[in-house]
Amino acid sequence: MADRVTVPSVRARKRAAGSEPIVMITAYDTPTAAAVDAGGVDVVLVGDSMANAVLGYPDTLHVDVADMAHHVGAVHRAGTRALVVADMPWLSYHLDPVDAVRNAAVLVRAGAEAVKLEGGAVRVPVIEALVSAEIPVMGHLGLTPQSVHAMGGYRVQARDEAAAAALLEDARAIEAAGCFAVVLEGVPDVVAAAVTDRLAVPTIGIGAGPACDGQVLVFHDLVGFGTGRPAKFVRRYAELHDMASAAVAAWAVDVRAGSFPSDAETYHATGPGSGSPPVG
Ligand code: KIV
Repeated sequence: MADRVTVPSVRARKRAAGSEPIVMITAYDTPTAAAVDAGGVDVVLVGDSMANAVLGYPDTLHVDVADMAHHVGAVHRAGTRALVVADMPWLSYHLDPVDAVRNAAVLVRAGAEAVKLEGGAVRVPVIEALVSAEIPVMGHLGLTPQSVHAMGGYRVQARDEAAAAALLEDARAIEAAGCFAVVLEGVPDVVAAAVTDRLAVPTIGIGAGPACDGQVLVFHDLVGFGTGRPAKFVRRYAELHDMASAAVAAWAVDVRAGSFPSDAETYHATGPGSGSPPVG
C-alpha cells in the first residue's frame, strides 16, 4: 500500500517539476470517503459544498463549524490514505485570527489534517495565525462560493486584465502567508495557467482549465447523485441518482408482490419448540 498523502507531499506536487496532477474530491461521510480513497485520490475535501450537495441548502453559507466537524469526523473514521482537508465555513475565520485558530482547531480535533479558506490578501493575517498554530492552510481564489452575494451570483471571475492581475496578487499574498496549495475556481484557463506558472505551491483547479497542478470536483457532480443541472466544467462518470432510484423501485415492486423477503432472507428459530412464538 502506498504511503499516506501528507501536506509536504502535496506542497511539492508541481507539474512543471514533473509531478503527476493532484486528484482531489469531496466526501462528507464514511462510505464515500472509503470509496474515493479506494479510487486512489490524493486529497479528500470535506467541503462546505455539503450544504448544497447533501443538506438541501441553496448555498454554502448555511453550515457552521459544528456541522463541518460532524462530517470531518465521519470522513476521518474511514481511515483514508488521502489527505483530509476541511473547509472553514463562512464566518468561522472572518472575525479575527484568534477566533479562526479556535475554529480550525475544532476541525483538526475532528480529524482534518489541513483547512481550506476562501479569499486573497485580506486573509493574510488569518492564514499567518493558522500556520503559526501549526495548522496547514489551503487557499481558495476566483469564484469563492461564500461570497455569492458579494459577487452577485456564481460568476466566472478574473475575466479582464485588471481582475486577473488582482487575482495573481492575491495568489502571491496567500502563498507568502504560508498556504501549501491554492484552489482556483471559475477562472479563465489563461489566468489559471499564469497563476500556476508563478506560484511555487500547487494550484488545484475547478472550472479553471487544464493547466493547474491538480483538479478537484464535487463527488456528487462526478457520479450524478443530485438533481440539479451540472456546471459546464463537470464531467459525469456515473448516474447514481438514476441507479439508486431504479434499485429502490425494483425493491418496492418485490415488497408489493410479496416476494421480499424470501425464505433465504428470513431468520428461523432453532431447537426444540422452535417456530412457536411464546403465547399467553
Ligand atoms: O466546498 C467545496 O466543495 C469546494 C470545492 C468546490 C473546491 O470548495
